[in-house]
Amino acid sequence: MSDLIEAPLSVELAEGETRRVRAGGLDLLVARIRGKYYAVGNTCPHRGCSLFDGWLDDHRITCGCHLSQFDIRDGRVVQGPADRPVEAYEVNVEGNRMSLKIVSRAEQVDIAAKSANR
Ligand code: FES
Repeated sequence: MSDLIEAPLSVELAEGETRRVRAGGLDLLVARIRGKYYAVGNTCPHRGCSLFDGWLDDHRITCGCHLSQFDIRDGRVVQGPADRPVEAYEVNVEGNRMSLKIVSRAEQVDIAAKSANR
């Protein structure tokens, strides 16, 4: 997969708003926080619930199923039970199009964590 994904963003998000977006074969949660857009994979790495069904508090997204929390800026786990990060993407919006660049890929973070523990 390319690290750069182009996708339409049909409506500008209001401050603090989240939206589920399907782009480039990905299921994403996109949010606008203080004028900046963020995106993470929408599927919770714990047991697969939709993060869109959870809630956003500043940069922290909480999964509604078992209350795992992730930082939407880099996908890292803030609070379990999830023990793996969610993929995070850098978002640039121009007009009604957005481009996404992978910031962290969950499996890469997993590999880095395992290497660090050796
Ligand atoms: S599925 Fe998200 S915390 Fe369990």
